Amino acid sequence: MTEVSDERFIGIPLRVLSVNDDGAIDALSQIGNVHNFNVTNGPLPEVGQVILLGDTRWRAAPPNFFKVQNSIAVVRRIEPDGSFLIDNGIALKRIENHHSIAVSVNNTIEFNDFEGLVSVLSESPIPLRETEIMEVDLRREYLVAKEGAGPRFEDFGGYPQVVQRARELITTQFENRDRLLAIGAKPIKGILFSGPPGTGKTYLARIIANETDADFYLISGPSIVSKWVGDTEARLRKLFEAAARNQNGRAIIFFDEIDSIAERRTEDSHEASKRLVAQLLTLMDGFKNEQNIVVIASTNRVDSLDPALTRPGRFDWEIEFGRPTYEDRLSILKVGARGLQTIGDLPLKEIANQSEGWSAAELTALWSEAALMTASDGRDKINSEDMAIAFERVTSRPRREISIEEAR
Ligand SMILES: Nc1ncnc2c1ncn2[C@@H]1O[C@H](COP(=O)(O)OP(=O)(O)OP(=O)(O)O)[C@@H](O)[C@H]1O
Ligand SMILES: [Mg+2]
Repeated sequence: MTEVSDERFIGIPLRVLSVNDDGAIDALSQIGNVHNFNVTNGPLPEVGQVILLGDTRWRAAPPNFFKVQNSIAVVRRIEPDGSFLIDNGIALKRIENHHSIAVSVNNTIEFNDFEGLVSVLSESPIPLRETEIMEVDLRREYLVAKEGAGPRFEDFGGYPQVVQRARELITTQFENRDRLLAIGAKPIKGILFSGPPGTGKTYLARIIANETDADFYLISGPSIVSKWVGDTEARLRKLFEAAARNQNGRAIIFFDEIDSIAERRTEDSHEASKRLVAQLLTLMDGFKNEQNIVVIASTNRVDSLDPALTRPGRFDWEIEFGRPTYEDRLSILKVGARGLQTIGDLPLKEIANQSEGWSAAELTALWSEAALMTASDGRDKINSEDMAIAFERVTSRPRREISIEEAR
């Protein structure tokens, strides 16, 4: 028979933080309060020990009496002082390795705020989101719907070489792909759209989306890195899988403003974007010839891109969108006038002449300003005077993007 002692010890579980020689003790409660008490006779507890503190005495307790909720995170960087940075899916956090547990970057670990690192759960990152990434969700989010009324090649003013290259891309990569393969030529995997802000890179990509029967996925800007944190690689892989599995086998994946995610992979660049670039390269290297996928990326800072991206077999086709020439500007102005109500002869040539250095976006904005003038004046047709005022207004707008360029 087991004997049950009737001695009852009532106390609160604490973890000892510090012990002074004179018996002053600091100890932490499970709700985060620090208790100070003095031990005047008898043995002293040890730092780190879990104890039960009663009214008049303390007593040792098993470590599991002190229940602290552990959290899970992925190790991102080990610091020279032995502490490290972890990614808990929301932010980076620094924790300590008091127990000197062997740990390396990308391990999934368990930690708490009292002890720091508690244990290593897995050598590799366990996805923070357990829910499976569904192809159908990726499609819904990134597949651009073909709009009947969306922009077409004829809406793209000027830049004849650019438009021709883009048309070539569609015909050779998609329509005549078999012929290309029969010749023995390697299909193009990646195309870079480069050029200053407002020169029509995104616009042309949208036009291409409308002009081909290929599925068009648009992944824009830096939001993706934070949005995909924790499962960047998996999402990208799924996206490419979804693209490869479309009905007619043709797909374009467009990374708009790729510089924001694919800057040179320096030590400091965010871990998630580094992983994204590495994964993108792996996926592009793995393209099979029968897979009819082309990746387009746009940037206004080619120099800042990770050089691995521009290596042969990746983004080795570049389409440059320079600042528009006089002809380009005139043509962009004419395209912009389509569908607008105008009256009389408009000074398009003069404006094209005087707008050296303007971007297509600025030329397009000129029409909006002119229309605003007309409407606020209670008229319904844009006249040459509206154009002149609009010209002044666009000229006096802050030209931030240009001064950045010049400052380099
Ligand atoms: N060649 C063009 N013809 C007519 N309109 C154009 C042309 N290029 C650009 N536009 C107009 O200018 C707008 C801005 O262009 P877009 O957004 O494509 O610039 P971008 O090169 O992508 O700039 P950023 O580098 O800042 O992203 C377009 O929405 C379109 O209305
Ligand atoms: Mg753009």
